[in-house]
Amino acid sequence: MLLGNGTSLPFTKDNVPSHVAVIMDGNGRWARSRNLPRLEGHRRGADVARNIVEWAADAHIRQISLYAFSTENWERPQDEVNGLMALLATILTAQLGNMRKKGVRLRILGDMSALPTITRTVIQRTVAATAEGERIDFILCLNYGGQQEIVDAARTLARQFHEGSITEEALDSFRPEDFRRLLWRDTLLPVDLLIRTGGECRISNFHLWDAAYAELYFSDLFWPDYNKEAFYQAIAAYSERERRFGLTSAQIKSKPSP
Ligand code: IPE
Ligand code: IPE
Ligand code: MG
Repeated sequence: MLLGNGTSLPFTKDNVPSHVAVIMDGNGRWARSRNLPRLEGHRRGADVARNIVEWAADAHIRQISLYAFSTENWERPQDEVNGLMALLATILTAQLGNMRKKGVRLRILGDMSALPTITRTVIQRTVAATAEGERIDFILCLNYGGQQEIVDAARTLARQFHEGSITEEALDSFRPEDFRRLLWRDTLLPVDLLIRTGGECRISNFHLWDAAYAELYFSDLFWPDYNKEAFYQAIAAYSERERRFGLTSAQIKSKPSP
């Protein structure tokens, strides 16, 4: 695939994932290895986060979701939590003009209610101001937890049953795709490719529902060292994989392309 500037990429436009999710891990270890405060790692990581949205848009990826803060991250030292919240507000404020110019639409996945008012206000303003962006969806996952998302959906279902808006027969024939519509991800494309940097091979409560069939890819690079080449290598690896969803390879090959 050729970029506008003539650079060729190691995959074709037809094979790129529609939704890529990234667990941006390793900021703290990157900082420690340089005798810097952990927050400096988060600052450098924020630069990479800004860039990866651009790399993804150039590769015709429709949605990119970045794990910025998990429901478990509240238990970190208070100064790190405060620093991360302040950093988010600063970065989004600084990047608003650029996002609008580049056609980036900001969306949020996670429970905004627990965030400090200033962070929440900046987020709401940025989401509203980028709503017309058509080039790529940047889904910022903040105070996100996959288990919490599923518990919330189960609670909604229980309430609907209790109020009578869903019948017993409907409940008996409830399918996974019906349940997905109750999840926070209702309007998101399914995650095709889930990348984790920083060398750990775990999901850490990210995108649990879609992880069922997402392709997983792990990189040993600490997040602040992650770069365009490493990202496009992951996309290229994805484009070579055969996703079978429980079928046989022969079945997949004989399927008419959509
Ligand atoms: C990921 O980097 C960023 C957040 C969780 C906010 P870490 O801060 O987890 O970095 P390590 O894993 O300690 O190196
Ligand atoms: C996952 O990283 C969360 C984010 C990247 C925001 P963590 O560093 O919190 O995950 P664990 O603790 O290694 O599982
Ligand atoms: Mg970590």
